[in-house]
Amino acid sequence: MSAKGPLIDVIAGARPNFMKIAPILRAIRARQAAGSRLRVRLVHTGQHYDERMSGDFFKQLGIPDPDVNLEVGSGTQAEQTAAIVVRYEHLLLGSRSDLCLVVGDVTSTMACAIAAQKLRVPVAHVEGGIRSGDWGMPEEINRLVTDAITNWFFTTSEVANDNLRKAGVSEERIFFVGNTMIDTLLANQAQFRAPAFWAEAGLQEGQYFVMTLHRPANVDDTQGFAQLLRAVGEAVRGAPVVFPVHPRTAKTLAALPDKPACLLLLDPQPYLEFNYLVRHARCVITDSGGVTEETTVMGVPCVTLRDTTERPETVTIGTNELIGTDPAALKPALDRLFDGQWKKGSIPEMWDGRTGERIAEVLERLLCR
Ligand code: UD1
Repeated sequence: MSAKGPLIDVIAGARPNFMKIAPILRAIRARQAAGSRLRVRLVHTGQHYDERMSGDFFKQLGIPDPDVNLEVGSGTQAEQTAAIVVRYEHLLLGSRSDLCLVVGDVTSTMACAIAAQKLRVPVAHVEGGIRSGDWGMPEEINRLVTDAITNWFFTTSEVANDNLRKAGVSEERIFFVGNTMIDTLLANQAQFRAPAFWAEAGLQEGQYFVMTLHRPANVDDTQGFAQLLRAVGEAVRGAPVVFPVHPRTAKTLAALPDKPACLLLLDPQPYLEFNYLVRHARCVITDSGGVTEETTVMGVPCVTLRDTTERPETVTIGTNELIGTDPAALKPALDRLFDGQWKKGSIPEMWDGRTGERIAEVLERLLCR
């Protein structure tokens, strides 16, 4: 360990990572200002590189420019994994850190954990221990591999703690700290703002839907995707559906000859605008995991087009419901919503906006003893 104090590599690669690292960086900065010896090297892998998928989030969330950008860019998951492992190993060989802190479940999370642990740089995983049980999701493979080689786990729920215990992880390696994504939501909610198109599109609070779709199972097959969009059009009773289109989804969408008139197609939205849209929506239709956590905290009804979730508390405690991937399930679900039958939900334990601080405190204890 350097005389200057322990160096933590904070890894971020794809959009859902950025809201998870922001509160951790902020909490470490606060400790540094109070004399902590912890040091941070912010490493962006470059998995997401568009302004709309990356740069906008750094600006809005006050994340400093990365110290290192591995610039891996597009590719198959194997290509991206390979490039990140090689480039991050190269970085560590030239300048070793004392901890590799990864968040979430994206390709960058797994790839950096592999490179670090093989060089015996310890790994900490924020959002460790969650499981969907579905090996068809790339994120589930990323979670399993990452957690198999993680030293310290920062967890969002008791379910995650139990998953880790069942996998043989000892109690002193598990830190139940809550949800950093919710820290970001709570810290920024006063700044949420209507997007420029709000008035022009005639949107009114509680009178429109927000939809996000990007999972391969929903969006990669043109026929299936067309059927899903038709089902959305039939189920929303003429309400507008605000649909920020992920780059992956845009490719399939471009091949469709016609789309339901209710869809308001948009580029990916910045954080503050997106969550304004969600907060005021009648309901959100999604296949994202993170969005189900945000809707739970904001108390907005959420319909998830998946068979499984790694975030069961959004269903058992929150406002989320899994309806599977059959488009025919949408109409009965939204009929219940329109009939006022949707559950109210409450907020899971420790999703209180202080998770970043708890993580920084544990890091200090682990690394500065
Ligand atoms: C990734 C994550 C997923 C996360 C999602 C959020 C993995 C395995 N998946 O999926 O967990 O929910 O991000 O966005 O890590 N592209 C751009 N611009 C960009 C980034 C990507 O055009 O800034 C294109 C890529 O070239 C590719 C497609 O979008 O064609 C998909 O991107 P990729 O990073 O491979 O995975 P996602 O589907 O975004």
